[in-house]
Amino acid sequence: MANSGVLEALGIGPEFQESLKTFWVKNNLKLDVPVIDLQHIWLVYLIMELEKENIEADGAEFPLERITKIMGDLLSFAAEHFSVEEDLFLAFELPDAIEHSDRHRNFVQFLSQRASEVKAGQHESVKVLISFLKDWLTMHILKDDKHYADFYRDSGVNLRQYFQRQIEKHALTIDRGQVAVYKLVSESDEVREIVNENITSNVMKIWNSNHLNLHIPIIDLQHLWLIHLVVELDLASRSRNMGSSAREKIFQRVVQGAVQYAHEHFSAEERIMQKFAFPGLQAHIKQHDGFREFVARRAQQYRQGDTQAAIKLVQDLRDWLLSHIAIEDHKIHLHLRTHLNEVQKFVRELVNSGEITLRKPQIDLYNQVCGLQRTV
Ligand SMILES: [Fe+2]
Ligand SMILES: [Fe+2]
Ligand SMILES: [Fe+2]
Ligand SMILES: [Fe+2]
Repeated sequence: MANSGVLEALGIGPEFQESLKTFWVKNNLKLDVPVIDLQHIWLVYLIMELEKENIEADGAEFPLERITKIMGDLLSFAAEHFSVEEDLFLAFELPDAIEHSDRHRNFVQFLSQRASEVKAGQHESVKVLISFLKDWLTMHILKDDKHYADFYRDSGVNLRQYFQRQIEKHALTIDRGQVAVYKLVSESDEVREIVNENITSNVMKIWNSNHLNLHIPIIDLQHLWLIHLVVELDLASRSRNMGSSAREKIFQRVVQGAVQYAHEHFSAEERIMQKFAFPGLQAHIKQHDGFREFVARRAQQYRQGDTQAAIKLVQDLRDWLLSHIAIEDHKIHLHLRTHLNEVQKFVRELVNSGEITLRKPQIDLYNQVCGLQRTV
């Protein structure tokens, strides 16, 4: 598909193209590091897409589904982009790397909270949020990101070469929509599409970029399995060479997996929370019920012939990783971090009594991602 076709498929018409270019050029956001520029342009695109949806909805019914989808995309892509930058800071020491990474963390936390509020019905704040997002991103690129680009350039670090190696190591994925918007805005074609179909490395990327490790092995193992389901479904719904019956099988397997996850994981997590007197248990359980509801809803939509149901489920599950696991389950880690040995002992009892079932593929995935810690 030519660039114009990809842009059209993304709903980027001539007027939107002009606004994107103008925003980029007017604010002088180019760092001249192609992969980073591409990711920044994609962030700008997502924010402006959010703005477009919000303006178009003015006066009409609030397009909650569209807006929460874009916010979810923005949140997961921001996390992905930040981890690309933070990997770079680790590869070549950067003064102020900790402060820079803290600003990333705060942004993700802030945006995630706003996304939950919008989902819960607070629609009037979206406009204010959009101008905040534009300001934050512009300031952050011009100040913090420009700082590392200048620092590395002055220190003789070749960032083009570094990103080439990251691409070869499958540490980066770039989809064709991102390439198309990058070409349009930067008028350069230095970056091409990079598809990574390796499920484990995709799982690892999501795991690391969203800081999902709670250091409670059984919970981590089950969370990783959910990410595995998300990645599998995501790759299937994007694959160009997969037949519809193969895709259907994957959707069914993922729905079944999600139902099983709800059954096994929530009961294990809730048992642990009960045992160790986790405050906020009831509210947490309510969120688990919300998960069961959206999985059932997507399965029903799919049965009724909604062809978008699989894509919507991927989005729901991604939102879940960021809003529930990264924030709510993280509170379990904070509550239990000084009792990890006791938790481990309790978990062993649950496994021995058959209350928790562990499956080989889950254990293998856990060991691959968490570095062969033989604790489960
Ligand atoms: Fe940054
Ligand atoms: Fe950045
Ligand atoms: Fe939970
Ligand atoms: Fe959980």
